[in-house]
Amino acid sequence: MTATTPTRPALIDLHPPAADMRRLVQEGLQRAPRQLPAWFLYDAEGSQLFDQICQQPEYSLTRTEIALLEQSAQEIATAMGSGVIVEFGAGSARKVGPLLEAMQPSAYVALDISAAHLQQATAALQSAYPAVPMLGICCDHSRLEALPDHTLLQGQRRLGFFPGSSLGNFTQEEAVQLLRRFRLLLDGGPLLLGLDQPKSQARLEAAYDDAAGISAAFARNLLQRLNRDLNADFQPQRFRYQAQWQAEQSRVRMALVSDCAQTVCIGSSPWHFAADEPLVTEYSVKYSPEMARELAEAAGWRWCRRWHDPADDLSLHWLEAAD
Ligand code: AVJ
Repeated sequence: MTATTPTRPALIDLHPPAADMRRLVQEGLQRAPRQLPAWFLYDAEGSQLFDQICQQPEYSLTRTEIALLEQSAQEIATAMGSGVIVEFGAGSARKVGPLLEAMQPSAYVALDISAAHLQQATAALQSAYPAVPMLGICCDHSRLEALPDHTLLQGQRRLGFFPGSSLGNFTQEEAVQLLRRFRLLLDGGPLLLGLDQPKSQARLEAAYDDAAGISAAFARNLLQRLNRDLNADFQPQRFRYQAQWQAEQSRVRMALVSDCAQTVCIGSSPWHFAADEPLVTEYSVKYSPEMARELAEAAGWRWCRRWHDPADDLSLHWLEAAD
């Protein structure tokens, strides 16, 4: 055997074009309340800010989920088997390590909306796990019709991994659509789904509005991105950041609230904001174990079991294709 230096994992770039972004922004701004797709938050700068959020003392989700994965990886591997691991919204890909060790998958395929971030993440992971072939796919996975026809995916059982409660960014109706889509993309293979659970209003609102102001900067960066990519003229300091627990919908609503009546141009189109009008940057829906099971079943998955942390703050749900 000769020692080999891992090559840089390949990257397939299917990022939506700027014209799509423009159309999605126009649609989003016509909704009541105004709302933009959450994946707009993740340009290169936004992806970095999100990594910083994960290190804030108030935001325990990431730390708790990583500890749970380390704790349960062997059990999860025994239960779910192996194949090629397909991670949706991999970000910095800091969670899959324990699964790579316990499952010894034939390959690891990471999907994410930020190409630059994905390239870095897969390269770093490749040096830590040189024996696992890796591939990055830059895409909006909520609209992907099929996984690309790549050799690493051919003829392999697909095991989906969707951690971090990312599904919480979607409304419950959208979440059902997305889980149906994943069922098709995974072609009969199982899904490991990480979902955060409801907890006290105080804890949730602090987690999404940390004292260091990183959550606020993350939301405001969205306006900077629109200025840069869509030639808009938002003045981010004229919007205040707000994170609100909406118990009836079991979600945190994050918004930038207009400080005054103002008109903003996006390209050549003017948009009027009334004083105190919110622009929703994202929702974070929290799923109790019962809600998670109902959601999975509504999307054609069979709920098998869950693993949770000692405080039962969040769960990793094991789902199998129902038929
Ligand atoms: C990446 C959607 C899981 O909802 O907790 C965290 C996003 N935004 N703080 C979450 C987020 C602000 C995060 N998800």
